[in-house]
Amino acid sequence: MNILLLGNGGREHAIAKTLKRSPQNPKIFTFANAKNPGICKISEEYEICSQKNFGEEDGFTHLKKFAEENKIDFTILGPDDPIGAGAADSLLKVGVKSVGPLKSLARLESSKSFTRNLLEKYGIPGNPEFKVFISMEGMNKFCEHLEGNFVIKDDGLCGGKGVHVSGDHFSTLQEGLRIAEKILKEHGKLVIEEKFIGQEFSLMYFTDGNVVKPMPVVQDHKRAFEGDTGPNTGGMGTYSYPENLPFLTAQHLEEAREITEQTMRALEKECGSKYMGIMYGGFIATKKGTRLIEYNSRFGDPEGLNVLPLLESDLVEICLGIINGNLSEKEVRFAKKATVCKYVCPEGYPSNPVKSAEITIGDVPKNVEVFFSSIDEIDGKFTLKGSRAIGFVGIADDIFEAEKLAEKACNAVSGPVFHRRDIGTKELIEKRIEMMMNL
Ligand code: GLY
Repeated sequence: MNILLLGNGGREHAIAKTLKRSPQNPKIFTFANAKNPGICKISEEYEICSQKNFGEEDGFTHLKKFAEENKIDFTILGPDDPIGAGAADSLLKVGVKSVGPLKSLARLESSKSFTRNLLEKYGIPGNPEFKVFISMEGMNKFCEHLEGNFVIKDDGLCGGKGVHVSGDHFSTLQEGLRIAEKILKEHGKLVIEEKFIGQEFSLMYFTDGNVVKPMPVVQDHKRAFEGDTGPNTGGMGTYSYPENLPFLTAQHLEEAREITEQTMRALEKECGSKYMGIMYGGFIATKKGTRLIEYNSRFGDPEGLNVLPLLESDLVEICLGIINGNLSEKEVRFAKKATVCKYVCPEGYPSNPVKSAEITIGDVPKNVEVFFSSIDEIDGKFTLKGSRAIGFVGIADDIFEAEKLAEKACNAVSGPVFHRRDIGTKELIEKRIEMMMNL
């Protein structure tokens, strides 16, 4: 079987490694915009194209040619940009199905207003109070109505930088309005919504548009520095427990599943075709229950790094179930283990990262999975490229053991790098539990 993998980050390295464990022994053909030394090693062919060709509709010609030349059976779409631009539609034109939604369905992630309106139109629970704006008219009044506790979301994809939360990213209503004005000038549309208080969690589902099958629940850490301080990043690290996260109840997960199932059905009614791929819900457990922060149309990065190594079922079979609409017949089973993922990043990341500096990777303990991301390797020498460099995932029966493993692996890296030491520690997790108890 020939599988096309689109993308070259840590998430795609995790997908590639999981495919390689398949008893069907598939060949992987990677279409990327940069080299990933980990994916390169396990790919039959590794095609690097320009940024434009990678993520833009105009450039999908190159992608289609690569798929045709390599007689691809199906594609797994990694990053949000090409998914939002319609990579699945382009590949379908040359007869290649994708694990990843068509452009119209991908609005689930690529348009925040689309998803809020969809949930409202179909009476799906989980939405905040919200309004979509294309001008400043009425915005002041609505923000006052929300008593100054609001979130501003750029309507489109912004590489994780499109969300501004009162109290975190701005402190007064006037400051918030200035941010909104800037977004409107640049992108023309935004959503203002009620701010939720609670604990966030990521819950990803495989779906063929008929059923949803959940992966283990994960918690991400978006802020660059310890204690959840500093600028937002793509995600500094994540953890999962063998069962549920300790500050969530089974009810929280059940509500998330209900929201996702209803959204899957609403998408088909709205768009006229089934959503096939990953539905990744960013949820928040509030004192009134589970609420939806946003959906993404792909595996999370780092979340995918936590869950894919635990997958005991065959990812190739799951993908076939997704694209052929018989996912209900496929087994989706994960090992009941704890995981802690920590990303090693260049000093200065995300605002002013060190680039081109050499790093060395010492001994990584057993039971740690290594996923390369923004890093190059030439003749055995590793250099930083400016974004999250290596994701280390400790896997153990116990979360704190998994944390120690990930920490040990991060400390084996020498060079101008840093990571968040607090992810997966007892101190940090206890704070989260206490916060939920207080709520
Ligand atoms: N973990 C954040 C993301 O994948 O968007």
